[in-house]
Amino acid sequence: MKPYLILNQLPKIKNQKNSLLIFDSILLKQASLKNWIGQFSIQYAVRSGESLKNIENLPVHLKSILKLQQKNQITFSNIYVMGGGSVGDFGGFVASILKRGLPVVQIPTTWLAALDSAHGGKTALNVDGFKNQVGTFHYPQQILIVREVLETQPKIRLKEAAGEFLKTALLGGPSLFHKLSAWDWEQGQVKWTDLKSFIDVKYSVIKKDPFEKKGHRHVLNLGHTMGHVWEGAQGIPHGMAIYYGLLFDLAWSTRLGILSSKTASQIMGQGPWENLFDMKTDQLLFKLNEKKLVGALLQDKKNFKNGLRYIFIKKPGQTVIKTVKLQDILKEFRRQKKILENFSYEEL
Ligand SMILES: NC(=O)c1ccc[n+]([C@@H]2O[C@H](COP(=O)([O-])OP(=O)(O)OC[C@H]3O[C@@H](n4cnc5c(N)ncnc54)[C@H](O)[C@@H]3O)[C@@H](O)[C@H]2O)c1
Ligand SMILES: [Zn+2]
Repeated sequence: MKPYLILNQLPKIKNQKNSLLIFDSILLKQASLKNWIGQFSIQYAVRSGESLKNIENLPVHLKSILKLQQKNQITFSNIYVMGGGSVGDFGGFVASILKRGLPVVQIPTTWLAALDSAHGGKTALNVDGFKNQVGTFHYPQQILIVREVLETQPKIRLKEAAGEFLKTALLGGPSLFHKLSAWDWEQGQVKWTDLKSFIDVKYSVIKKDPFEKKGHRHVLNLGHTMGHVWEGAQGIPHGMAIYYGLLFDLAWSTRLGILSSKTASQIMGQGPWENLFDMKTDQLLFKLNEKKLVGALLQDKKNFKNGLRYIFIKKPGQTVIKTVKLQDILKEFRRQKKILENFSYEEL
């Protein structure tokens, strides 16, 4: 597993003749990025989003990519992938199957991808609207975290990554909460020198279990059970859905006495959460009908028969795993829904 590099500027690519660049077409709107992309003789522009990850579109993409190879009379020797998490998941998957696997360099262009999705080797495609049903482990040869690229993002992208930053702080411990509180969330910028300490939380987990064989990586699913349900059913961006999934888990952890109410309110009091997210959305999310909820839970989780190993929070830096049944999640969903229904937004 090779670590990532943090750079201020995009490096010049040497010997790109046999390289393919798969990139998010939105990046062409930035003159400096357009210039850099222009140095690749073979480029494949894609439109980001979940439809890019739809497995039904894969054959068309593969045909077009292989045609580029024929047209240029070369054989690809490696692939560069530049974009947010959807482009990273798609491009990583393509790299893992093309010619039975080609080395890949990931250049994340959203905060979410720079913090999370570009690391850890997972690639993924969606099937029938269900997320990440097909995928591979394909560790990038290199991951370039580049300031000039990441600072081109609109402000909203930081809000869309907020859930993953909160998850990382919950796993990493109190010092990360202090950092989060100091960032300029209004301007949508992370403090550049803090980024490494967040990324390293993921590495501290994956290095123990690079291919998810021993169960250590399971903690990275914190907030993701309900998060995935809401992302799929309501179509809200991954990182925001994870934020709501974490609120669900914090509330459930408190209910079970694993997390004290005092620590729970300290967690929510530190950071930008109340300014970024409102409870009206929370109430809307709980309007999800139970049939859809059960369908999404069953599709997302492979093994509900023997219960699901669910991650609860004891305090920042400490989690507790408990086996829960589908019925337990439903019961907790109903409980939280009732609390929110009785809550009047006007009272705030
Ligand atoms: N593989 C993993 O381990 C992993 C982990 C977490 C999330 N994910 C996946 O990541 C995806 C979400 O990531 P995302 O939010 O980065 O998705 P995304 O690729 O859809 O990007 C979000 C939006 O930002 C735009 N964008 C990207 N870079 C930009 C830039 N520099 N300037 C302006 N606009 C830019 C995109 O065009 C898109 O509209 C989901 O599909 C999720 O399943 C994967
Ligand atoms: Zn995630």
